[in-house]
Amino acid sequence: MADNRPIGVFDSGLGGLTVVKELIKELPKEDIVYFGDTGRVPYGNRSVDTIKKYALEDEQFLLTHNVKLIVAACGTVSSVASDTAKKLPVPFFEVVSHACKTAVNTTKNGKIAVIGTSATVSSGQHKAEILRLNPNASVITCACPLFVPLVEEGWYKKEDAIVLETVKRYLKPIIDFGADTLILGCTHYPVLSDAIASVLGEGVALINAGTATAKAVADFLNEKALYSENGGDHKFFVSDKPNFFKEQASVLLQKEIDDRLVEKVDINSL
Ligand code: DGL
Repeated sequence: MADNRPIGVFDSGLGGLTVVKELIKELPKEDIVYFGDTGRVPYGNRSVDTIKKYALEDEQFLLTHNVKLIVAACGTVSSVASDTAKKLPVPFFEVVSHACKTAVNTTKNGKIAVIGTSATVSSGQHKAEILRLNPNASVITCACPLFVPLVEEGWYKKEDAIVLETVKRYLKPIIDFGADTLILGCTHYPVLSDAIASVLGEGVALINAGTATAKAVADFLNEKALYSENGGDHKFFVSDKPNFFKEQASVLLQKEIDDRLVEKVDINSL
């Protein structure tokens, strides 16, 4: 039986659109309701308690839109606040486990690197999940806190000297470690893929957590026959700066986003 209710996706801000992009590729007929917490971004340097509080509020907001499942696009929420989804009345997808599974299936030398926000790296979630899947793997994790502001500033091209130097500096330990697989454990990092690939070289596979998660969502919908039969509409809610979001969304999704599709909401009034 089909289920035409939308998929709910949330993130601390606009970065989660990299996950939406993968969902649209994988599931073009699904309606998507997105919430970007642009008024409270970033989450990645906040305490676990605060991230959990925000995640719960974001999930509750999406439920008011009658979603059939919820995707936490945010690497930080997925790492430290997945337990907030335990009582949700709909299925929940985070981006850590699917990325780890893909990485374990991809690596040839068993050396896997993970990059993310400070909160993501401190949580140790990726390492624990990779070792659960393959106890013989070796894992290195590195926080790259400057990557998010670079991307938000629109500085992500590999030809940009500042971008290249920042990427080189953060990834040096990963090169020294000899990883052949790197998990991009934060929403913004796929935007830096070209710069990261140019520093690491062809021998290192980049795992986009959004791609891995979108595939998992598609498998779930197919398996349960819960896919949409007539959807494909996308609606975006933000807690601040809808115009900035609209401009960035048009760039990240590579399509024009109509003003009417982006709405500001007061997340604290729920
Ligand atoms: N969305 C966050 C993540 O994927 C990055 C931005 C932030 O720190 O909130 O971890």
